[in-house]
Amino acid sequence: MTSNGEEGRVALVTGASRGIGAAIARHLLGRGIRVAGAYRSWRDPVAELATQRPGQVLPVHLDLAAPDTLAAGVEEVHQHWGRLDTLVLNAAVWDGGRLTRMDPDAWWRVVETNLRGTAALVRAAIPHLVTGQNPSIVVVGSVVGEIGFAGDTAYASAKAAAVGFARSLAKELASKQVRVNVLAPGFVDTDMTAAVPAGSRQAIVDATLLGRFGSVDEIARAAVFLAEDATFCTGTVLTADGGWSL
Ligand SMILES: NC(=O)c1ccc[n+]([C@@H]2O[C@H](COP(=O)([O-])OP(=O)(O)OC[C@H]3O[C@@H](n4cnc5c(N)ncnc54)[C@H](OP(=O)(O)O)[C@@H]3O)[C@@H](O)[C@H]2O)c1
Repeated sequence: MTSNGEEGRVALVTGASRGIGAAIARHLLGRGIRVAGAYRSWRDPVAELATQRPGQVLPVHLDLAAPDTLAAGVEEVHQHWGRLDTLVLNAAVWDGGRLTRMDPDAWWRVVETNLRGTAALVRAAIPHLVTGQNPSIVVVGSVVGEIGFAGDTAYASAKAAAVGFARSLAKELASKQVRVNVLAPGFVDTDMTAAVPAGSRQAIVDATLLGRFGSVDEIARAAVFLAEDATFCTGTVLTADGGWSL
């Protein structure tokens, strides 16, 4: 049973194979919510979770760079469970480098994959969300979309756009009681940050008030708060960065 007493609700979480998305999936399951766990290339972790939680997890293939898979994935979830109440847009690609050194096609691939994929997925999900219970969309952005980071012009552009996207969508969907919020993490220990050189990592830790990287569970708890508990929040950006951006 969920926090608001509604049973059998369904969430679709993108990028559920690892990192923050896998943690969000686990925490939603802990709240009694069934999870469609979307993966791009690594199905095994989601399939394993489905084995551990029979009837509670549906592995779904979605590739942000392949728009056809997005609508098909949403329909697969709806056909399987007959509903969709929550959408967590967590998957993202990262590629970086100073603007003058980054290949223009690679630059646009980051922006396009993240932004176009997000919009296409939401477009397919809206008809189902509007009939959901406590329906909401959580967009996982990033603090670098708010304050910038050298070497991140493409990624930060996509993350900044996600805020304008979410706030506009919040206005479009308010009459249907669908809440749309953004979670903006700082630096978190995942595969995405594993390649940060030791010197840069120490500089980030030094600039973070809490003096460390965040954990995936800390970010997942914030995501579940927005998705489930923040019933009077829409169009908000919740920063979870240990004070790095202050
Ligand atoms: N880690 C951080 O410090 C940090 C900070 C701020 C914001 N964020 C944001 O938090 C979210 C999760 O980050 P993370 O660190 O957990 O990432 P991660 O460890 O790199 O995992 C990325 C996830 O996204 C999926 N994915 C990648 N490309 C995809 C595509 N084209 N289509 C569909 N799925 C795709 C991957 O699926 P497969 O495994 O199947 O390939 C994987 O599940 C992202 O939006 C990221 O921008 C992260």
